[in-house]
Amino acid sequence: MTQLELEPISGVLGAVVHGIDLAQPLADETVQAIRSAFVCHHVLFFRDQELDAEQQMAFGRRFGALDEHPFVHGTDAHPEVLDIVTEPDDALNFGGGWHTDVTFLPEPDLGSILYGVDIPLVGGDTLFANQHAAYDALSDTMKSMLHGLVAVHSAGSQYQAGGTSTRSKAIRTKNADLAAHEVEHPVVRTHPENGRKGLYVNRAFTTRIRGLRRNESEAILNFLFDHAVQERFTCRFRWACGSLAMWDNRSVQHFALHDYAGQRRQMRRITICGDRPM
Ligand code: SIN
Repeated sequence: MTQLELEPISGVLGAVVHGIDLAQPLADETVQAIRSAFVCHHVLFFRDQELDAEQQMAFGRRFGALDEHPFVHGTDAHPEVLDIVTEPDDALNFGGGWHTDVTFLPEPDLGSILYGVDIPLVGGDTLFANQHAAYDALSDTMKSMLHGLVAVHSAGSQYQAGGTSTRSKAIRTKNADLAAHEVEHPVVRTHPENGRKGLYVNRAFTTRIRGLRRNESEAILNFLFDHAVQERFTCRFRWACGSLAMWDNRSVQHFALHDYAGQRRQMRRITICGDRPM
């Protein structure tokens, strides 16, 4: 199998892949090697890429069908492509808080691929947190308590009329009337490719644990939300124009920092369809 040149960026997740030009057609062996590295490191970074939307989509399709966001308009040319622009005077950015993408869907996206188009001179980094490591760090007693628990997820607080994301100028939202729909996922999911268990709740979209009283559910979820994103489980990526990040939504949460007031940031995002968490 093709050997990739990988440079880890923290002890728990994240690696830069060197020596690959994503604008060129990739051999099957190279795609296989990227997929193995992706499942092992959870988030991969490629620097100095020159990619238009079609080339980014062609790369994404090597890992599965592309998804369309149910509540955010894609570009006119490509509904699967999100153009995420934060202007210098915007109060809110897109993705500014710990979350896993679209867990409010019955089959949330497997992964997301984000390309840096216009990057602030300082700030605008993205944080990632390894949810396998967060699970592994729990006591055996807590692990057995969480097994079998089911959490409810919804996009309501973000995408219903007046929701946080509808107030962000970084994106154009749609289908607000459908956003309160609820889906259920296990609190602990098993990764379908590496077999590892990981926490699968996030502050943006997980609303409660089924079968518990409200205060019981809040206490457990607040503990898990905080536990899951401790510094020891994270890495931080410094963007440049032409950087690309590809993360595994089955094993990481992420957070787009908004610490670049007065500067512009533009990203292009696509997502790969996933399966039902088990
Ligand atoms: C996202 O949450 O998909 C956006 C991440 C970022 O802009 O860094």
